[in-house]
Amino acid sequence: MTEIRVLTDEAQYRAHNTLFRRAMHWGPPTDEQWPATLPSYESGRVLAAFEGDEMVGTTQSYACAMVVPGGAVVPHAAVSRVGVRADYTRRGVLSALMREQLSTLPEPVATLRASEGRIYGRFGYGLAGRVRFLRIDARKAVIPGSPTGRVRMLDPDTSDKLLPELHAEVGMGRPGQISRWPGWWARALDRKTEAENRVTVVHSGPDGDDGYVCYKVSEDKDFKHHMEIQDFACANADAWRDLWIYLTRLDLVDTIEADAALDDPLHWLFEDPRVVYTKDVYDQIWLRLVDVPRMLAARTYGSADPVVVEVRDKLLPANDGCYRVSPDGAERVEAQPDITIPIDLLGAVYLGDTRFSDLAAAKRIEGSRFAEADALFAGPVAPLCSTFF
Ligand SMILES: CC(C)(COP(=O)(O)OP(=O)(O)OC[C@H]1O[C@@H](n2cnc3c(N)ncnc32)[C@H](O)[C@@H]1OP(=O)(O)O)[C@@H](O)C(=O)NCCC(=O)NCCS
Repeated sequence: MTEIRVLTDEAQYRAHNTLFRRAMHWGPPTDEQWPATLPSYESGRVLAAFEGDEMVGTTQSYACAMVVPGGAVVPHAAVSRVGVRADYTRRGVLSALMREQLSTLPEPVATLRASEGRIYGRFGYGLAGRVRFLRIDARKAVIPGSPTGRVRMLDPDTSDKLLPELHAEVGMGRPGQISRWPGWWARALDRKTEAENRVTVVHSGPDGDDGYVCYKVSEDKDFKHHMEIQDFACANADAWRDLWIYLTRLDLVDTIEADAALDDPLHWLFEDPRVVYTKDVYDQIWLRLVDVPRMLAARTYGSADPVVVEVRDKLLPANDGCYRVSPDGAERVEAQPDITIPIDLLGAVYLGDTRFSDLAAAKRIEGSRFAEADALFAGPVAPLCSTFF
């Protein structure tokens, strides 16, 4: 029988990491990688499935915070390192891990990145945010005008000290953005394994530092230079524009690749909007509402007549029930529902990436008054999560 245990020591964490990496077809962590990986194991949050004494499955979560529509920041669990040993798959090991994790998470919401689109809906996670992968033709990318602020390059030690603080100030501007925990930074700033050729520049405007970008440039065999933007955050439009002026005026660079929100207006910066090419759109945020009453109360709503939404949640039945959603907020009610929705699809509409009417058109939900529900749940900006975990 599968037993779920909370892991407690470094040897178990390393076995957990090895099992997860093998499930992803990667090799085990090397001695060089391990010191930067260890801080990503937070006591009490690392679960493993055992068959007898053998570890056969893994998951863990990181405690952080997430921005919801309207700008409130709520406690959030970033779920990661989900894996089942290849000789134990399709026997319910992941299901046992998910059940245990969801029933013990202290946070009202969890998100994860899914390796495949068919795994997590059954556990109540819905596809709540997508991301665009952009390629910019840097040689033709002309932004008219001059910068308004100043961009300065940081040496690595200064960057290590400044970035965590600056990200906390400027990196939480969209629904779906999450705060970063110490173990995240330990890996991101580990120059031995990952950050060797990374450059960090910071923008300052009239009120001080208000944006940054981390990038890496590599050269291919045809002597073309490609820039990969690894991290980008800014607090205002001037910082955003000035950082892009800096990036697109760098010598030698032929192409720039970056992730961006679906509604990022980047192409409007350039004389020729076609220099920005969307290579792909990926699903990014899979969101699980763990505590529905608390999460519905945490966000704001647009203006429309109230709608009663009935939520169905097989794994966490405390969420089952009807909620009246209006421009003034959301509360649990005893009333006839307008719309009935399973918990994964409530997760899909929560950040504003998906509309009720799209789910109704696809025959995924039933009811009426979808236009009102769309207007209530719509947000002014698309969600994004720039923190990979
Ligand atoms: C994905 C993974 C964790 C699933 O673990 P598992 O123990 O086989 O899952 P379970 O046996 O609990 O399956 C639960 C259900 O999900 C389905 N399912 C599981 N993995 C699936 C997949 N990759 N695609 C489609 N369905 C899947 C099962 O068929 C089962 O369906 P059922 O309830 O209708 O019978 C495991 O296959 C794995 O480690 N894969 C490689 C690593 C990976 O992708 N990790 C996820 C990182 S986000």
